[in-house]
Amino acid sequence: MLINKDMKMVEVIHMNHHLLHVINRFGIQLGFGEKSVEVVCKEHQVDLNFFLDLINTYHNRSYFPLQNLLKIKANMLVDYLHKTHQYYLEFKVPEIESYIDRLLSDNVLEEESKQLLSDFFQQYKAELTQHIQIEETMVYPYAIALEKYLKQKISKEELTGYLKKYSIAEYEEEHGDIEEKLFDLKNIIIKYLPAPRDSRLLNVILHDLFELELDLNNHCHIENMILVPIVEEMEKALSETP
Ligand SMILES: [Fe+2]
Ligand SMILES: [Fe+2]
Repeated sequence: MLINKDMKMVEVIHMNHHLLHVINRFGIQLGFGEKSVEVVCKEHQVDLNFFLDLINTYHNRSYFPLQNLLKIKANMLVDYLHKTHQYYLEFKVPEIESYIDRLLSDNVLEEESKQLLSDFFQQYKAELTQHIQIEETMVYPYAIALEKYLKQKISKEELTGYLKKYSIAEYEEEHGDIEEKLFDLKNIIIKYLPAPRDSRLLNVILHDLFELELDLNNHCHIENMILVPIVEEMEKALSETP
């Protein structure tokens, strides 16, 4: 069942509490009372259709309203993607890291296993951070600049600076798979670490890695399937302007 505008926000959370992080990215926090999705979105000046389409892609993995999502404004989409990056770097990754630190100071695993896990995680964190930095400093500003220029909010000169730096075709080609290493990290824990004296902390880490992977899958899918075509469309419009 998909989430609709007339459902109460409290029902949405009871139905799928994993959506809370996604809802937060729209600037919406807990304390919904009896308000419906529509009312909460209105109060926070959030585009209702974008909100529903997006949270439903998380809620139901087989739901992906491509044509609706392609109509979204670049600045709205980039804002959402940016907040997702913040969630990864400021919350989720530090949370996993704090569990790993706790594990390193515990005696539940042998030294060698602790080191392997720690090294692999640090490599993954560096890779994810670099991936996000490229998007935040090059891809997203480029998309915003293109939209502003087409709406005549910035001059051709201002846009030219961005055009020299980037094209979306380059991004599409280079957009790396940041879930692959995460999959390897999960497998190290599931398959190769010798059985610890107490698995509980490892189970929590594993659970968090699965959650991060699901979120990243959705995030990357939106970048590839929605952001790239929206920017391509703007590049086309730009080439047709005199
Ligand atoms: Fe991203
Ligand atoms: Fe990405």
